[in-house]
Amino acid sequence: MKIAIMGFGTVGTGVEEILYKKRESLLKNNFDIKIEKVLIRNKNKKRSPLDGDLAFTDDFNEILNSDVDTVIDVTSSLEETYERIVKLMESGKNIVTANKAVVSKYFEELNELAREKDIYFSYEAAVAGAIPVIHPLMEEAFFSDMNKIQGILNGTSNYILSKMEVEGSSYDEVLKEAQDLGYAEADPTADVGGFDAMRKIRILSSLIYNSKINEDEIFTFGIENVKKSDFDFAKERGYSIRVLAKSELTNDKINISVIPTFVRDNFFAKTFGGTNGVKVWGENFSAYELKGPGAGKLETADAVMRDLLRILAKREIKTFYDAGNSYEVENNLENKFYVRTSEVSTELKDLIEEEKFINDEHLIITRKVSLDGLRHALGNLDKVFLAEIEEDL
Ligand code: HSE
Repeated sequence: MKIAIMGFGTVGTGVEEILYKKRESLLKNNFDIKIEKVLIRNKNKKRSPLDGDLAFTDDFNEILNSDVDTVIDVTSSLEETYERIVKLMESGKNIVTANKAVVSKYFEELNELAREKDIYFSYEAAVAGAIPVIHPLMEEAFFSDMNKIQGILNGTSNYILSKMEVEGSSYDEVLKEAQDLGYAEADPTADVGGFDAMRKIRILSSLIYNSKINEDEIFTFGIENVKKSDFDFAKERGYSIRVLAKSELTNDKINISVIPTFVRDNFFAKTFGGTNGVKVWGENFSAYELKGPGAGKLETADAVMRDLLRILAKREIKTFYDAGNSYEVENNLENKFYVRTSEVSTELKDLIEEEKFINDEHLIITRKVSLDGLRHALGNLDKVFLAEIEEDL
């Protein structure tokens, strides 16, 4: 099988490394995978692939017009990569992508095009790194209604929160460590702002509910404002703080959010560092949990390799998703929340169940309220830290 790779950053070098190191064992099993070309932006940049003969190009048309069967996309750009994937699919090439921004924004279009062209569109690496999560859900969706999913889906945020919590490290210091480990995006705003996890929960939720979900309908709140006082407050009550991406389908409405959450003594509270965890509820099983490395070079490249192998072995599922349902998004389920703010509006005052003051700030626990209702009471979220409380205090 002739393949091409678009992008040669963290994940791209991981794919090349695995293919190079496992060439003999793959060949022994008749899996002959040859990298014809690697698309890069800057041909002058020094690169050190394990295969010294690896051919680089900065001309996308060399890949589009080549006879490769499958293109691995490990780029991080959005519109440019989307346009290229469309051209590649139209020319009949299978796509394996780790680009969650493209998969999330254009999930419907790309699945539709893959179906029309009768090719494979595989994106296991776009969500939760090395954890096999897309394929189990894709298979499950044929015969089991699933109505709820939750996950720690951003390794960078989880690394920062658990290090701050356990070691008392500073935010900036641990963000730098997460970047050095290859977890964070080049611009980490998407990680710490919750947008990376938002894209991933959009993909997982659309897949299990078979319904389109617009990214801008997902309530997304990150960890940029988190402070030591939040960890202290949570700890006093026996909680850890983790960013959970979650969705639930009830009464034909999808509740969906990415939000820091007070978690206690459960699967998520015990998920540390760059690890991701996913829990899904379905009708044929109460719930199952998956946990593993959610980011990193070989970790993500591993998921790419599994997609490639499935395509080569002709046992990949062709485009299950067709957005056949159309559920509305509405965050109407009620829960308690923690809010740290210097200003308390009249609407917020009405929601207070418990309150504490530290350095002119109000640390509040609300009574049960829907996220939509709380959002309305909070107004501008810039100076606020907000967390959902997993269960009653
Ligand atoms: N920046 C992402 C994370 C990489 O931190 O989880 C994996 O998608």
